[in-house]
Amino acid sequence: MKDLTPRKQDLDPIEIASRDEISALQLERLGKTLRHAYANVAFYRQSFDAAGVHPDDLKTLEDLAKFPFTVKEDLRENYPFGMFAVPREQVARLHASSGTTGRPTVVGYTQGDIDTWASVVARSMRASGTRPGDVVHVAYGYGLFTGGLGAHYGAEKLGCTVVPVSGGMTPRQVQLIEDFGASTIMVTPSYALSILDEYRDQGRDPRESPLNVGIFGAEPWTNAMRREIEEAFDMHAVDIYGLSEIIGPGVANECVETKDGLHIWEDHFYPEVVDPNTGQPVAEGEKGELVFTALTKEAMPIIRYRTRDLTRLLPGTARSMRRMEKITGRTDDMIILRGVNLFPTQIEEQLMEVPELAPHFQIELSREGRMDAMRVLVEALPGVSDHEMRVHAGATLRERIKKRVGVSVAVDVNDPGQVARSQGKAVRIVDTRPKG
Ligand code: DLL
Repeated sequence: MKDLTPRKQDLDPIEIASRDEISALQLERLGKTLRHAYANVAFYRQSFDAAGVHPDDLKTLEDLAKFPFTVKEDLRENYPFGMFAVPREQVARLHASSGTTGRPTVVGYTQGDIDTWASVVARSMRASGTRPGDVVHVAYGYGLFTGGLGAHYGAEKLGCTVVPVSGGMTPRQVQLIEDFGASTIMVTPSYALSILDEYRDQGRDPRESPLNVGIFGAEPWTNAMRREIEEAFDMHAVDIYGLSEIIGPGVANECVETKDGLHIWEDHFYPEVVDPNTGQPVAEGEKGELVFTALTKEAMPIIRYRTRDLTRLLPGTARSMRRMEKITGRTDDMIILRGVNLFPTQIEEQLMEVPELAPHFQIELSREGRMDAMRVLVEALPGVSDHEMRVHAGATLRERIKKRVGVSVAVDVNDPGQVARSQGKAVRIVDTRPKG
């Protein structure tokens, strides 16, 4: 793989500023944001008043912990435009979560917000090793989802040639990467695996592809998956994080030279980690639920938003801004199986260690009598057709999960292509247990 470390002179000065400079900027921007939210959003005025806090109470960054949280339900209750702090006419763009049930969550951007967003995505891409002039293949979905358009504007801002492919039509993805000479791909890691399969189906060597960098996010993925993808494509695989409520992709990103967790772009997004049960801040470096306050948003300021994502904060390395560890999972994706808590990423880690199995998987939860049962659906690699080998591979995975994760599960080793594929975010858990 090529050394794609960006040159120091190409970074935004704040990326390598001192902690004191970053904190001073954060405090100034936080004060402004709290005042903006309090003055212009009825929801925040009421929630601050109810908690007995006022924007003037913010004297230090630690004072933020006195302010109330915002949760997804608050956005739903204020559907569609109740969280906006500017007149609707000043909102240049809307995005929304698909929301499987009930109302979608709507987010709005002023022209200024779109600029900020493009800048943080451009910074993320530069950190990933992408350069002005590169051809960037965007296979995140375009539309109400923030992935496609977020990546698109960031790539344009960086000065790249953008190919807005969106998800789907996998054979064409391969053709366009090859014909247009894409050196960067932006896509969910699970869909990247489908593109990888397609390369092999077409008899092409993925290591010979023009790709140097993959910028993967929108769903959890492990370092084991990184090794798999990097080896298969002979390219750097870098993690990008974000969520629509905060801005979209580009809240945090790994640096290609270290790949040791995601640097949070702290000049725009202020992170906290709290105990998901009590809401109390955890000790420094402890794992918990990530909470974000956006520091520069105009249309939809967002204060102490509970992301439900689990991680820990770490000091800066390649940049002065703090890092978050790769996300383990979401509080709502946690499986409790006979008293053991686990996340799909733990299954992914074990699966990657079994050489006969493909990296695709899905978890089925069911009720058998009064007990919950878990079945892991996986696939044999195309060459592995021998029955004995498949049985052995399944048993190996089952034993690894028992030993490393601590639960007994069933493993189904299917023919290649039998595990459901996604063209965006993978559906890892299928829960057939009776509700309630
Ligand atoms: O997924 C934004 C995005 C698009 C990020 C493209 C990165 C790349 P939402 O649809 O609002 O926005 O979903 C946000 O996705 O709270 C996490 O649970 C999960 N997520 C996003 N990035 C990562 C990541 C976009 N790198 C939710 N690792 C978040 C793990 C991620 N989970």
